[in-house]
Amino acid sequence: MTKNPFSLSFGKEPISLINRSMQTAEIIETFEDENPAYQVCMITGVRGSGKTVMLTEITKKIRSDDDWIVMDLSPERDLLQSFAANLSNDPNLSEIFRKAKINLSFLGLGVEIDGVSPITDINVAVTRMLERINKKHKRVLVTIDEAVCNDTMKEFVSLFQIYMRQDLPVFLLMTGLYENIYELQNEKTLTFLYRAPKIELRPLNIGMIAEKYKNIFNLSDEEAELMAKETKGYPFAFQVLGYLCWKNETTWVSVLPEFSQYLEEYVYEKVWSELSKSDKELLIAMAKTADDKVEAIRKTMKKASNSFSVYRNRLIKKGVITSPEYGHLDFTLPRFKEFVLREGIA
Ligand SMILES: Nc1ncnc2c1ncn2[C@@H]1O[C@H](COP(=O)(O)OP(=O)(O)OP(=O)(O)O)[C@@H](O)[C@H]1O
Ligand SMILES: [Mg+2]
Repeated sequence: MTKNPFSLSFGKEPISLINRSMQTAEIIETFEDENPAYQVCMITGVRGSGKTVMLTEITKKIRSDDDWIVMDLSPERDLLQSFAANLSNDPNLSEIFRKAKINLSFLGLGVEIDGVSPITDINVAVTRMLERINKKHKRVLVTIDEAVCNDTMKEFVSLFQIYMRQDLPVFLLMTGLYENIYELQNEKTLTFLYRAPKIELRPLNIGMIAEKYKNIFNLSDEEAELMAKETKGYPFAFQVLGYLCWKNETTWVSVLPEFSQYLEEYVYEKVWSELSKSDKELLIAMAKTADDKVEAIRKTMKKASNSFSVYRNRLIKKGVITSPEYGHLDFTLPRFKEFVLREGIA
């Protein structure tokens, strides 16, 4: 095998991709529906769970449809300004706006149109443009990767709600860590986000991972299944384990120490640094307790029972732990327990 079939880069579609077709198809079908059930959707999940890859897949599909205008915006810049600039600069739209005599020259977004006074308010300009787009039966999809709760996000999302109320054809797809999405929807003016669907990225299907490994490395069914289980379905781990076997031309068992090291350096240290003190305490207690029962973990931690469930639920939402059955807890990410144990000693 000469060409590396695996990718360690974040935010880039990998060559070896495991389908999440159910979830992606649902979003695409809803957005393309004549009467969409929702126009705002958020994808959340722990780092490395594939949020950006999923967003890219969905936009690629929608972009291929001529009736859609798709733009990726960054919350690092003024969103309303970028939105307006992207609309006015779209080569397929400028003629439409010119004919509609929408004069954007004052805002620096278009050329002067004789006999029409220029629009001086950016929100008015956006509304006028969206009205024309609506008349042409086109739709606009805005994507925001790594949403945060800053001023420009708050302004933009609340205006977005107004455009939707005016039946303008706007759609918003965001990705974000649970804590950022949570903070955003708790803003007084943005409570409508509570009702917007949130797709929580779950582990990839182990059977599908096994199938990929089997084909790439010529493994037996049993061997492929064991190797796939080692990833726990975590997308980044799927890439790392495959990559290390490919690079070293060995079996998965002999690359396990390197596997842990990659996971830690690329993701776990970052994930850990973003957790609160209480989150960490719970995780350390979990790792130290031989039993996976909540009761036993709580004893190790010596925490009052009601605050325990607050931290537990938050960690589940963040995608760091799961509850495989009532009253039990497990780590979501492969080799994370070993990592936590070491952090607990340090
Ligand atoms: N469906 C998938 N099948 C196989 N590999 C995937 C899939 N989705 C993501 N990956 C791999 O997982 C890694 C992380 O993907 P991605 O960058 O989308 O994560 P993310 O959730 O956006 O992370 P972050 O929160 O840090 O931005 C990449 O190496 C990517 O190749
Ligand atoms: Mg990402």
